[in-house]
Amino acid sequence: MSLSSFLWALWYVLPAYVANGTPVLVGGGRPIDGGRTWRDGRRLLGDGKTWRGFIGGVAFGTLTGVIQYFITPDFYGDLKTAVLLAFLLSFGALVGDLVGSFLKRRANLPRGAPAIGLDQLGFLLSALAFAYPVKPLRGDQMLMVLIITPFIHWGANYFAYRMGWKSVPW
Ligand code: CTP
Ligand code: MG
Repeated sequence: MSLSSFLWALWYVLPAYVANGTPVLVGGGRPIDGGRTWRDGRRLLGDGKTWRGFIGGVAFGTLTGVIQYFITPDFYGDLKTAVLLAFLLSFGALVGDLVGSFLKRRANLPRGAPAIGLDQLGFLLSALAFAYPVKPLRGDQMLMVLIITPFIHWGANYFAYRMGWKSVPW
């Protein structure tokens, strides 16, 4: 795999990264589960998943795609494709994040508890799946982003923690 196809793969998934990171800055307010519990008596998703975080993440992730289109139009072909791809990557990332929290709550992990693997890759696998029908990433590029993303995730979270945006460094 060449350096350029590796960098293109990161360029491709960038909206998913933006969508996943935005809620840390804009989240808060009403939780998506409205405080409801599942049949096990624990929260459906928990207070860490809010509407503001979800909608803000989809909005900023999609906006990222618009900016990317103006930087590299040939990569996307047309603006409509770029916006649709960025929307699906962002929406997919945040849906995957919700599924992750649902599974964490079922495993009796409190909000904010780390779940290695799920926290770093759940959002990405979901984003790649949602985006697949519009413009799939090549298999080797997919593998490469799956390998590198946990390190980017840990780095970004540590940075957010040091900036005082998050209370835990994961
Ligand atoms: N966040 C949000 N809405 C979302 C996703 C995240 O408001 N849909 C915000 C919350 O403030 C959350 C923070 O971003 O605490 C970090 O996100 P994440 O690590 O995914 O949530 P956790 O608090 O760790 O909760 P969980 O254990 O459910 O993953
Ligand atoms: Mg977390």
